[in-house]
Parts: sequence; C-alpha cells; structure tokens
Amino acid sequence: MAENQELKPLVVTSVSEMQRIASELRRAGKRIGLVPTMGALHLGHMSLAVAAKEDADVVIVSDFVNPTQFAPGEDYDKYPRTLDADVTLLQQIEVDYVFAPQPSEMYPDGFNAKVHIGGVTELLEGEFRPTHFDGVATVVLKLFNMTQADVAFFGQKDYQQTLVIRKLVRDLNLPIEIVVCPIIRERDGLALSSRNQYLSSTERQEALVLNKALEKAEELIRSGERDAPVVIDAMRAIIATAPSAVVDYAYIGDPESLVELSRIAGDVVVLLAVRVGKTRLIDNRIIRR
Ligand code: PAF
Repeated sequence: MAENQELKPLVVTSVSEMQRIASELRRAGKRIGLVPTMGALHLGHMSLAVAAKEDADVVIVSDFVNPTQFAPGEDYDKYPRTLDADVTLLQQIEVDYVFAPQPSEMYPDGFNAKVHIGGVTELLEGEFRPTHFDGVATVVLKLFNMTQADVAFFGQKDYQQTLVIRKLVRDLNLPIEIVVCPIIRERDGLALSSRNQYLSSTERQEALVLNKALEKAEELIRSGERDAPVVIDAMRAIIATAPSAVVDYAYIGDPESLVELSRIAGDVVVLLAVRVGKTRLIDNRIIRR
C-alpha cells in the first residue's frame, strides 16, 4: 500500500489487487471514498476528487471507459483515453489510488449479469439511449463492490444518472453513501464534459445555448411563469439560434421522480439534451422555490 506521498496516486490495474487493497483499508478502519469516472479528467472530475479528499480517509478514482453503457454506433471507440494525463492531474491533489482495470477483466468471457433499475431509467436518456443505464448501474455496482467504498461522488451534470445511482443503492440496500456535487462550468457557462473536446470552435460557441436556455428558464420561473410549456418554448427558441443544434429533449420535471410537470408549483429540475453537430451534450439546472 502506498504510504509514500511521492507514489500517490498508486495506479491499480488488476481487480484482485484493488480488492486486496480495499479489504486491507477496511481492516485498518479507513473510510474509503470512490470517484467513478471514465477518465479524460477535467475540473468537474477534480471537484469530485477534492470533495472526496475532504470527506474520506482514502480516495480511489476509477478511470474506466465502460463499454456496456455505450450502444453500437455511439462514441465508445473515440472516447478520449488519457490515463497518464489523468494520473498527473490527480497527483496534484494527492489522490491515493487510480483504479484503471482492463475491459477484459471487468467483463471476462461468459460475463452476462445485468443490473436493471426501473422507473427513472425509462424516460429522457433512457428513451434516447435504451441500454445506457443498465450499463451504468452494472459497472457502478461492480466498482462499489471492488473498492468497498463507504461513500461515492457523482456530478450533478449527469442528473438522471444520479437518480439511478441513488435508486440502485436504495433498492439493493447497498452500504454506501452517495454525494452529488455541483456542475462545474467554463467562465462562459459551458458545463464541463469530456465530450466538449469533440466540438469545433464554432460548435463550442454554439454550445453556449444550453446554459443560456437554462438561465432563461430560471429567469422566467423566478419571475412567476408557472406554465412549463411556455418555459420550454422559450428555451427551444434560444437553442434554435444555434444553426448546428438539435434538441433531443427540453424537459421540466420533479427533481426526485423526474415526472414531467406542466404546472410549476414547487422545486423543479430543467433538463436538456442537445446535439451540437455530432456531439450530444446534456445539461440541467435545479430551480428551488
Ligand atoms: O458518469 C460517468 O462518467 C460514468 O457513467 C460512470 C458513473 C463512471 C460509470 O461508467
């Protein structure tokens, strides 16, 4: 186990080694914090790792591009894989372990388990990416088991994913605490995402319509608009100003259940999925009253 700070983070690529380390840490009474990522780390991920450092005795960042959450034709092959750069970033905040297993060890021949969470997975991302959340729930459960984490950190940017993870934990009585950290944005409002690097400079500029649309939604709701379709039309009008943007959904729902709302009476979450050129971006804003 890496006690020497110069060795941090220790990169663990084998599942059995990760399990051995996790068992040792638990025996030593350490509180283990996990930050599940697919790598290509940016400041959004770093904010999760910093939150984990503040909360846990030992922090593990998993760095694994999970094939089962991509459908055929999605960006699995071109998804950026930048393990060395990720480790260098994590060195700066002295994360303890980076867990970077091989797909062949995560999913060996004959692997055929699948975790399916119902309800909240069936709309929005679930409609556009029908196999996505099974892949997420399955890999996240495996990562929880392999690292024996006490607490795991997720970003609000993947809002529906956070609800799926909470449901996974609740329905399967997993002994783990879930912490959701705020969205980190560029100065001009673009939510950080590993997929932003697919955008050309024109598309990068056009992608600002997502946050602008969310700002407009908040402004309308705060100034008393209660009719959700009116707010959604205003958001769509802003997005339509970007020639290469196509809306997959613009949605106002209950923040816990995601049930669609036509009247805005209490807290809401506003969710967007927009394709900008070939890049699909998601963003959201919780508006509390
Ligand atoms: O949010 C992500 O990066 C992924 O969905 C996760 C949670 C690491 C599972 O692969």
